[in-house]
Amino acid sequence: MNQKIFMNWWKKNPVYQIYPKSFLDTSGNGVGDLRGVISKLDHIKSLGAGAIWLTPIYPSPMVDNGYDISDYTAINPLFGSMADFDELIAEARARDIKIVMDLVFNHSSDKHPWFLESKSSRDNPKADWYVWRDEKTNWRGIFGGSAWQWCEERGQYYLHTFATEQPDLNWENPDVRQALYDAANFWLKRGVGGFRIDAIVYIKKPEKFLDGAPDSPDGSCAVHNMIANTDGILDFLHELKREVFDGHDIFTVGEANSVKPEDLPEWVGERGVFDMLFEFSHVNVMFKRGDDVWHQSKPIKLSELKKALSDSQAATRDSWYPIYFENHDKPRSVNNFFPHGSDKILAAKALAIILFGLRGTPFIYQGEELGFTNTKFNSIDEYDDISSRGAYNLARADGLSAKEAMRFVQKFSRDNARTPMQWNSSANAGFTRGKPWLPVHDDFKTCNAAVEERDENSVLNFYRRLSALRSSNDVLLVGEYEELYPRTEELFIFTRTLGEKKIIVAVNFTTHDVDLPEKIFDGAKKILGNYSDEKNYLRATEAVIYGN
Ligand code: GLC
Repeated sequence: MNQKIFMNWWKKNPVYQIYPKSFLDTSGNGVGDLRGVISKLDHIKSLGAGAIWLTPIYPSPMVDNGYDISDYTAINPLFGSMADFDELIAEARARDIKIVMDLVFNHSSDKHPWFLESKSSRDNPKADWYVWRDEKTNWRGIFGGSAWQWCEERGQYYLHTFATEQPDLNWENPDVRQALYDAANFWLKRGVGGFRIDAIVYIKKPEKFLDGAPDSPDGSCAVHNMIANTDGILDFLHELKREVFDGHDIFTVGEANSVKPEDLPEWVGERGVFDMLFEFSHVNVMFKRGDDVWHQSKPIKLSELKKALSDSQAATRDSWYPIYFENHDKPRSVNNFFPHGSDKILAAKALAIILFGLRGTPFIYQGEELGFTNTKFNSIDEYDDISSRGAYNLARADGLSAKEAMRFVQKFSRDNARTPMQWNSSANAGFTRGKPWLPVHDDFKTCNAAVEERDENSVLNFYRRLSALRSSNDVLLVGEYEELYPRTEELFIFTRTLGEKKIIVAVNFTTHDVDLPEKIFDGAKKILGNYSDEKNYLRATEAVIYGN
């Protein structure tokens, strides 16, 4: 067995992701805060988490809820103070939990002093800290609309891969890179346990683009297809590793849409830059291209989902992988991956079995451990998420009716994952005593932490059991992964093997009974499942972990 695996704390325990704005409001302003996080550390600990990834808590105009940063080394007063942050680090440490920060280094806010200076003239000291051009191309930004914005003061366009208010930083400039490394090192000195590195595939813009800003050649003008994973990007990232990550007992996980499984060894592990990488192949399996146009999505084929998961398991055999089905950008997994009509509680538990059954570090997104489902707003104006508005406009421009466009927004909006946490059955689910910034899901009376705490069959208690099982089970921690029956569209079956010891995970993705293909192995005993009894076939949405 590879002993090194046990030396990495971040491989042994799950990571819990918090979207602070929606977690718990202690001030009454309707927005979650750091004191709310501090007060719920025991909830997080009860899931066995070894780390908390906080999405951005830096000062920000909040156009993209904190992913538009106007100061990289301070705390947004909306969330609290630096003293609150230090207390969070200390309180978390007392429970053996590390705090992981989000580094948003592809772009800043257009209100960041660097950008204000950069846009003020063509010859100020920060004139080339952003990506300025005289001409624009036909590229479409990830949130819809042109990826270029005209700036009157400079008489030039600037590039924004995401929202207009998120200008891309110019990584070719060494001063820019140094300023970003300094910011990350600031947080290391304060005691953070790692970083999630946002949208990192976009930092390098292609040479040909720098020479002449071409229009997209293939008729598709998604900026993603023009600049993601440009050759040379790994040189920047190795520098970031040397200047920031090396020599610290931290973990790093990059967000890297469209890094192909076969390229993973360049990005993670011995030869790579990060400890883990969020690639998107399984969560984007309903989309044709990396730029995930919502209204061009197709129904998920289970065989394709399984292939995506198996390919990344294979590609990280000698390294490590973050297992995730949810985050603040994706719809709730119960709605996303299980057919309409599936029992929501069974589905949440079934997905949890896969989350803890695959090889890698499970990432639990707030609410996932309670079995949260998608929300539904009836008009586009009720959506806060900037990408939902972009996707809606794009669908309308492509000829969809308002009703059709809304169907896709309801299905894929990031607000599905951003409704407030449901702590108890009191007003606003105990999230705030004020008016929540986004409406609480209407199922909060039955689906909340307090109710689930008392119910030993709840999703919450199932997560706790699974987490305890995984962290004490060598086969689940490090056993080799193999998929069985990859072509079936009904079941996901895989094994984890360590020497003589074997685990089999079997999940029925349909709403009817399905026979197990054959006796899958001799002496298999059910260890845990989402039904209390056992049959020799799998019932609707049934998921079982067997061991020998
Ligand atoms: C990442 C974040 C997302 C954000 C975007 C721009 O994809 O996860 O929430 O909108 O980057 O920073």
